[in-house]
Amino acid sequence: MPLHLAHSRQLFERARQVIPGGIYGHATPALVVPGASPCYAHQAEGARYWDVDGNEFIDLMCAYGPVVLGYRHPGVEAAAQRQAALGDCLNHPAAVMVELAERLVSLVDFAAWAVFGKNGSDMTTWCIQVAREHTRRKKILCVEGAYHGVDAWCTPGHGGLIEEDRAHVHRFRWNDEASFDAAVTRYADEVAAVVVTPYHHPLFAPSEMPAPGYLAHIQARCARHGIVFILDDIRAGFRLHMGGSHRYFGFEPDMSCFSKAMANGYPIAAAVGKPHLRRASERVFLTGSYWNSAVPMAAALETLATLEREGAIAGMERTGRALAAGLREQAGRHGLEVEVSGPPACPFLTFRDERNLYRNQHFAAECVRRGVFLHPHHNWFISAALTASDVERILDIAGAAFECVARVPRSGSAGPAPGVMGTLSQE
Ligand SMILES: Cc1ncc(COP(=O)(O)O)c(C=O)c1O
Repeated sequence: MPLHLAHSRQLFERARQVIPGGIYGHATPALVVPGASPCYAHQAEGARYWDVDGNEFIDLMCAYGPVVLGYRHPGVEAAAQRQAALGDCLNHPAAVMVELAERLVSLVDFAAWAVFGKNGSDMTTWCIQVAREHTRRKKILCVEGAYHGVDAWCTPGHGGLIEEDRAHVHRFRWNDEASFDAAVTRYADEVAAVVVTPYHHPLFAPSEMPAPGYLAHIQARCARHGIVFILDDIRAGFRLHMGGSHRYFGFEPDMSCFSKAMANGYPIAAAVGKPHLRRASERVFLTGSYWNSAVPMAAALETLATLEREGAIAGMERTGRALAAGLREQAGRHGLEVEVSGPPACPFLTFRDERNLYRNQHFAAECVRRGVFLHPHHNWFISAALTASDVERILDIAGAAFECVARVPRSGSAGPAPGVMGTLSQE
């Protein structure tokens, strides 16, 4: 039975009249099989959400990362409401800002200071400015296909850019020390910063964990050449380790950026750094109309406290492992071989020997149709609210979806599957 999506469709038609593209960015329906996914959400609770047509979904996307304890977590909501009763957007920062900075500095082993913004892009862009200020150099090195946000130096889009925006941004290949070394050698004393994510999660491709010693190698070369080593921990931060994902993988950057899992959906981002970058960080202007808002800071304090108190990170890892094992088994029963890549808490499924994600599209559509929301091209996220019985249900549904996929002839084309948009591209 197809999903009943009449209200979603209607809203999308209205949106197209007044919002360019209707829905833009990562939530665009252009990325999925047409008509196979809702466009508008109505309500959410724990590990479930309901769309505007009343369809219920077990959620594997967590609002594309920001939700980590489950939607509307009672403790986080209560903390946010307590702060909201006092005030949110005020003339001055509230005391919670100092508390939150102290908390981050105590959680992240190398951090001597913390600053706040709203979105991940605020922080990655600010960090490269701090690195340029500190080193008085221009060049930024980052990994091919890595996403660091929407600002001109790094957006994967092409519209509105001029050559100069990226004139000093150079890419090297993930897990390829020689490629990294060649970039450092080539630009030598001009490199201000190297920016990496703790593991590689390109869109449209399996996630790749760091090879043993790879990130330590980058760290050592950065130290040798006076380059600032920036960890973009926006997607994985506080999902893999309470001290930041560098602790999970065993290396140490000079600065880290956090956002998604910090405040269980409340808008906040943070950057933390080592003592030697404090002076430069004071010289790079940092502000936004809402950046001192107190409610997200109160939500962040409570989210971090709950993650720690409840051992939620270990729990999400266990849930993710059970899910991955079950998916492989279910796929095998239908003669399909799948790869579940990335850390268990942020899994992504691909079909072996298929680069165009044609069957991912079908698999996602069949899961969504049966009540499990996941995305065919973007990694998924496990929340702490996902229970063992949710996983069982997901696996039952995945089994039925694999059965359908096994009947679909494979696409011979090497390009993207039908319905895959061509507007976003990875460099
Ligand atoms: C690794 C990484 N860096 C940066 C960003 C940008 O964050 P935001 O969308 O909040 O600006 C994202 C968002 O998905 C991300 O995953």
